[in-house]
Amino acid sequence: MDMLRRPRRNRQTEAIRNLVQETTLHVNDFILPLFVIGGQNQRVEVGSMPGINRFSVDTLQDEIASCVELGVKAFAPFPSIPDQLKDKYASESHNPDGLYARAIREIKKNFPDVAIFSDVAMDPYSSDGHDGIVENGEILNDETLEVLGKMALSQAQAGADVVAPSDMMDGRVAHLRHVLDEHGYHKVGIMSYTAKYASAFYGPFRDALSSAPKMGDKKTYQMNPANTREALVEAELDIAEGADYLMVKPALAYLDIIKSLRENSNLPIAAYNVSGEYAMVKAAAQNGWLDGEKAMLESLLSIKRAGADIILSYFAKEFAQYQKR
Ligand code: PBG
Repeated sequence: MDMLRRPRRNRQTEAIRNLVQETTLHVNDFILPLFVIGGQNQRVEVGSMPGINRFSVDTLQDEIASCVELGVKAFAPFPSIPDQLKDKYASESHNPDGLYARAIREIKKNFPDVAIFSDVAMDPYSSDGHDGIVENGEILNDETLEVLGKMALSQAQAGADVVAPSDMMDGRVAHLRHVLDEHGYHKVGIMSYTAKYASAFYGPFRDALSSAPKMGDKKTYQMNPANTREALVEAELDIAEGADYLMVKPALAYLDIIKSLRENSNLPIAAYNVSGEYAMVKAAAQNGWLDGEKAMLESLLSIKRAGADIILSYFAKEFAQYQKR
């Protein structure tokens, strides 16, 4: 055959394949989400997320130590709050002695060099299981901002490096920037969940935190999975309002959105490889239906290839272990 171009030439040995590889994953790309519960000496596996535990503040320190040892240095903790501490206004979310503030303080005391991305949203503390204040079945936007501001401030006071609003209320980035600056926290960054879709892939996360909405769904604030341009509108607003990072969530069903944000902004782009995306790989691997490690690597690589600089993933530790081998 007379063929000038043979793309297979660049695939013939591992050494050559490595040379022409366009995208690589590094442990520095990752933020590991962590679930925190009350009590002591607790390490409770999340049923729908094999290998992922909820840690009490003490065992959490050991978990972080083992991650740091592997090179994972950025964490996104989420609190699991008992029902009796939940209320309509998520008051526990800005309790300076609450579980979340204690967890952040303890991590920063033991590991001053790790980066903590704290979660700003009402749902873990809301008796309604929503990210905003519910009044007559409606999610109130501006009233919710007040709560988010208090929450972000208490997280900054506890030592969070970056606050990450995951609530999708309008105007929250500007409000948080204003509250943080007003209290002297101009160094605390904001990672905005810019394009957070109303997704079925959050199921296992809601199991982990018992935070599923008590009624209705989240479609009046989270985005319609059908929309791309709307993500660009959100991105424009977040940039104008002072976000330091933009995030797309979930990741795998939204690779096109990651790419679009990458092409339309020069801010760092993060993508959240969410609980359901983790659970799917684990469940299939446990059934022997696919090779879990290869599926993990391919998923993570695709997120980076789409244009994410930063990946929030429950696989972060497993990836670091794989890379160390
Ligand atoms: C809510 C929040 C959710 C996740 C992070 N923050 C779920 C939701 O919107 O109900 C999901 C993360 C995951 O599935 O891993 N503020």
